[in-house]
Amino acid sequence: MSAERSHAGRPRRSATLPTFPWDTLADVTTRARSHPDGIVDLSVGSPVDPVSPLIRSALAAASASPGYPTTAGTPALRAAAANALQRRFGITGLAEHAVLPAIGTKELIAWLPTLLGFGPDDLIVVPELAYPTYEVGALLAGARVVRADALTQLGPQRPALIYLNSPSNPTGRVLGVDHLRKVVAWARERDAIVASDECYLGLGWDAAPISVLHPDVCDGDHTGLLALHSLSKTSSLAGYRAGFAAGDPELIAELLAVRKHAGMMVPGPVQAAMVAALDDDDHEHKQRNRYARRRAALLPALTEAGFTIDHSEAGLYLWATRGEPCRDTMAWLADRGILVAPGEFYGPGGSHHVRIALTATDERIAAAVHRLTA
Ligand SMILES: Cc1ncc(COP(=O)(O)O)c(C=O)c1O
Repeated sequence: MSAERSHAGRPRRSATLPTFPWDTLADVTTRARSHPDGIVDLSVGSPVDPVSPLIRSALAAASASPGYPTTAGTPALRAAAANALQRRFGITGLAEHAVLPAIGTKELIAWLPTLLGFGPDDLIVVPELAYPTYEVGALLAGARVVRADALTQLGPQRPALIYLNSPSNPTGRVLGVDHLRKVVAWARERDAIVASDECYLGLGWDAAPISVLHPDVCDGDHTGLLALHSLSKTSSLAGYRAGFAAGDPELIAELLAVRKHAGMMVPGPVQAAMVAALDDDDHEHKQRNRYARRRAALLPALTEAGFTIDHSEAGLYLWATRGEPCRDTMAWLADRGILVAPGEFYGPGGSHHVRIALTATDERIAAAVHRLTA
């Protein structure tokens, strides 16, 4: 077996995908870990705060679950998701059958082009600086990918699928109503699907993010639109694998029809936990406040240490630069025991930025602030 060929000389699927980005950070991680006061890991953005007892109880209460769950999700889950989107984000007109649970949003993004039947003839548009799984999903389907933030960059091309991500990972940029309206109208004229990744929609700081399904954006017409939501960050449920899609009922029905065959079911106890999380806004506010506090501590410390913070008006990350290649900035931070993500993970335009996550305990954030300002 070789790097490109696997069993019986077949091409390796993994060789057609980019290097798994986090696997490339071993050396800088070792450097950050050697700090006498320990590492402050602000790289992956994995939540660290306790899961709300309310959610844990719902999970435990549903744990006697010998049968298969449904791919569609329980009626209670679909209703809870539609109600939460209305309550939290003003999204109206979502019927229960316009919602579909996913085993974490990453799974759905990685397989969305495949589930929709896209292939080599199809073009998928991803943001210039983007969560890498959009591209991975296109590659798994054999589709073509183009990075573009402006519709004018697309010329006469007719994409099959356009990804939006506001607030953005990694930049924290928020797309305004006018921008979103233009994309929706442009996509509709060309029969393109718009998949709006709204995993960070609840984390607006200096700007108010809005959903593609909000009536101000789509005039109440969800045709061709999918909003992708995650409970990983807003409810600290990354370990449960809990996400969902909502939007065009026809697209949701098609995704459901294929996912049923593929066994893409969210476990029953997790579905029950999701209902508890979606029905309760209190724990979500508390989590949001924790991130707001950490941002308020970290942002001025970075500025004081000579960083420029770009965008970052919303979301879970600070998009920071010292005007030098991102690996140099990472090394500078690793010398202070702070591990961050290189901007180049997210696209060539990120080569001089690092992405700094707000996902560390208050104690570790305080340590980072101390090291940056000492
Ligand atoms: C933009 C974006 N979309 C999707 C995801 C995946 O989230 P989940 O934990 O629901 O798989 C992430 C996770 O970091 C993300 O940053």
